[in-house]
Amino acid sequence: MSDSEPQAGDAPARARPIVAYGDPVLEIECAPVDSFGEELRALVEEMFLAMWAVRGVGLAANQIGVDARVFVLDCPGADGRRVVGHVVNPVLEPPVVRELEVDVEGCLSLPGAHAEVPRLSRIAVTGSDWRGEPVRIEATGLAARCLQHEVDHLNGRLYIDRLPHRIRRELLRSSTQGSP
Ligand code: NI
Repeated sequence: MSDSEPQAGDAPARARPIVAYGDPVLEIECAPVDSFGEELRALVEEMFLAMWAVRGVGLAANQIGVDARVFVLDCPGADGRRVVGHVVNPVLEPPVVRELEVDVEGCLSLPGAHAEVPRLSRIAVTGSDWRGEPVRIEATGLAARCLQHEVDHLNGRLYIDRLPHRIRRELLRSSTQGSP
């Protein structure tokens, strides 16, 4: 979405592995970022690379083991257009229209599992980029779902935490990572 996004060619040769469900780093409320600049840019690059390496559409920093409120996404909106970006210290705006959409959702930290989750069909998130400049991303469809999913991650919450207990248990059993 902006020229500040890293290009695939800039990426280091090896992508960092994605942290799997069960690791406590996925259950922490990630720390706000207060230092901007090159180090943060490098983290954002690493996150894009790790996400693209496994064909993901979104990734939160704690999914590569980093305790920082940052996420990246590369995900189609309801109109099919790609929403590509990163947000540091993201805050979801209260929805103008509270319309929920139920759709299938999965997570890179829980490979093999999917479940239907209700999410707001349109949402905007504000925060900053790696330089500390303000950013705002408004999205619909899968990209809106992704924004909510990634902010959940940064609050130590997985999509399975939004499921009824029984469905959650069955899902964890079916996941390749599954351990309830
Ligand atoms: Ni996830």
